[in-house]
Amino acid sequence: MRIRNMNTNDLGFAISLTEQEKWGSIREDFQELLLFDPNGSFIAEMNGEPIGMVCAISYGSFGFIGNLIVRSEYRKSGYGTTLMSHAIAYLKGKGTDTVMLDAVQKAVPLYKKLGFKEMCNSLRYEGRVEPETSSNSRDMEDKDMMHILGIDRKHFGANRFLFLGSSLSRDPDLARVIEVGGRIVGYIMGSKRHGFVRLAPWIISECPELANEMLRDFAVRVEGKQIKLGVLESNTHAVKVMKAHAFYQKSYSVRMVLGALPRDMQPSNAVYAIGSAMRG
Ligand SMILES: CC(C)(COP(=O)(O)OP(=O)(O)OC[C@H]1O[C@@H](n2cnc3c(N)ncnc32)[C@H](O)[C@@H]1OP(=O)(O)O)[C@@H](O)C(=O)NCCC(=O)NCCS
Repeated sequence: MRIRNMNTNDLGFAISLTEQEKWGSIREDFQELLLFDPNGSFIAEMNGEPIGMVCAISYGSFGFIGNLIVRSEYRKSGYGTTLMSHAIAYLKGKGTDTVMLDAVQKAVPLYKKLGFKEMCNSLRYEGRVEPETSSNSRDMEDKDMMHILGIDRKHFGANRFLFLGSSLSRDPDLARVIEVGGRIVGYIMGSKRHGFVRLAPWIISECPELANEMLRDFAVRVEGKQIKLGVLESNTHAVKVMKAHAFYQKSYSVRMVLGALPRDMQPSNAVYAIGSAMRG
């Protein structure tokens, strides 16, 4: 087995793997990853045939690994572990000592063997929300980006300009901010998928009581489609909001960490929806 960098010619293969797993990924997810770091995504090959993949992102001192999939006929031969070790070594080589991921339950033992420890559950919700426009909300604009990046950095812990910027240009109709006294105190973004809308990310830096209002306002924009999002169980208020809107908890992953968690990387209660399993 040989591991090489993923490139744009591999996107069809990457999507075929995620479709088999029903992860709801789209080509743009991988295009963004390659744009963010052309050297951070990997393909495993056997006799010139792709058999698996993994992707890594460094945000500096911490990073994320995701999209680990091995073609079913090649599983249980150690290739998944080898791909993971490769991605971890890549991040360490960049000085990224803390690595996080969202693990499906079946994969938790594999990650534990590599030294990952469980942090908290990462819940996967889906549902529909009664739409209602909020008079405190408005469309996100390019000029808001600096302010939003400040909020995002404070609560996520790093600059996610590339992901937030591309999300805004791809689905501007799903990007909303909420203001109190003329100041942005929260934002919510979405991305159109095949048959549903992924809500990600969603941050409320002040006034958590605005969560329901923001969600209903977002629902106006999704035009009746199903909304899917990931919520860290450690944010008990976000979980309450999901329950209040009768969201269905379809599954859960386990957020795991390898290495020391930086002090400012404790899961923040301002984060109502994660960016994605891959982006953190
Ligand atoms: C996870 C996955 C990449 C592992 O690939 P692999 O080449 O079989 O990995 P290895 O041979 O190095 O390790 C096997 C370990 O994977 C884990 N595993 C087994 N079946 C699995 C499954 N269906 N899904 C996830 N992990 C699984 C087990 O810990 C297994 O250890 P065991 O053989 O002692 O039971 C592969 O099972 C897969 O593609 N699963 C579907 C996609 C997925 O769930 N990815 C992980 C998302 S967090």
